[in-house]
Amino acid sequence: MGEKREIRILGIETSCDETAAAVTKNGREVLSNVISSQIAVHTEYGGVVPEIASRKHLEKIDEVIELSLSEAGLDFSSLDAVAVTSGPGLVGALLVGVSEAKALAYAIGKPLVAVHHIAGHIAANYIENPDLRPPFVCLVVSGGHTELVLVRDYGSFEILGQSRDDAAGEAFDKVARAVGLGYPGGPKVDRAAEGGDPEAIRFPRGEVSGNPYDFSFSGLKSAVLNYINRAKMTGEEISVPDLCASFQASVSEALVSRAIRLCRERKCESLAIAGGVASNSALRKRVEAECLENGIRFYRPSPVLCTDNAAMIACAGYYEYLSGRRDGASLNACPNLPLGALCPKRGREEGQGR
Ligand code: KG4
Ligand code: ZN
Repeated sequence: MGEKREIRILGIETSCDETAAAVTKNGREVLSNVISSQIAVHTEYGGVVPEIASRKHLEKIDEVIELSLSEAGLDFSSLDAVAVTSGPGLVGALLVGVSEAKALAYAIGKPLVAVHHIAGHIAANYIENPDLRPPFVCLVVSGGHTELVLVRDYGSFEILGQSRDDAAGEAFDKVARAVGLGYPGGPKVDRAAEGGDPEAIRFPRGEVSGNPYDFSFSGLKSAVLNYINRAKMTGEEISVPDLCASFQASVSEALVSRAIRLCRERKCESLAIAGGVASNSALRKRVEAECLENGIRFYRPSPVLCTDNAAMIACAGYYEYLSGRRDGASLNACPNLPLGALCPKRGREEGQGR
């Protein structure tokens, strides 16, 4: 025999508005990746309604898990562990995934492994980049997080820069609403910017004093809102493509200049991007170009792995599993979980799986 054992992890993700389940083999190979989006439901309200999100997760979770197993051609007995996002996110939404994962792991007698949502986003990079290994710098840009993270090792992170106010994704969503594009903002701004001139309007680049790797997007957001209000008052017509392209240029410059500076100053050869905003086409182009210019290797997940999914949770869960992390019946949803700190405390718990 002598064959390497295959480790199959079921990942479950319900932190916001996607009910997702996926199975990975040896961390990086995706056997299935099922995502049931709630976008249609929340669009009516112009944003995610937490109570509705929880209810929809409850309605869908069993079906999504079953589908992820059947697409992978597996049954519960061939799994090695169940990994689940325990935070951060909407508490009611997280609870659905955490409760499901706890019950399932107990019922099938397999270990339970908690995963930090942002660690999952970062791990999405491992899936299509077999050569990527820590250490590297990761620019995390999602709906709730904007961070420059030094990934020291699998599951070991140091935050070197972060937003002092709004997250990048939040800024996209607010600008989308202000120009009447609605929810979900990021992809709509991205599409609207396609025919626009990124140099048409000069928006601020979010300078902050102190830490050179910190970001600020509230000034940019206000500048965009002021621009719209001024145009309304003077009766001037707004070019939505130009506005969106110029906004994206400002966000991209703020993000990329700091990420590149950090890589250069820390002599880090690899830069990855992660989170929903990492699927933005202008941002991807800019990071790629600047990495090339500066001799930095650039890694990114494909767009579908940037936004919330469970393959990234199963991938991060694999490395947690290898490191010996085990969770149990006391695992709880942690809506404000900081990166690198999982509650309950890292380590083995009695009475659960192996
Ligand atoms: O990572 P994610 O799916 O969920 C969170 O963990 O927050 O990120 C969602 C955020 C939203 O703010 C959404 O507008 C933004 O990512 N987003 C985008 C794009 N696709 C999603 N922002 C810019 N361009 C996109 N193509
Ligand atoms: Zn996310």
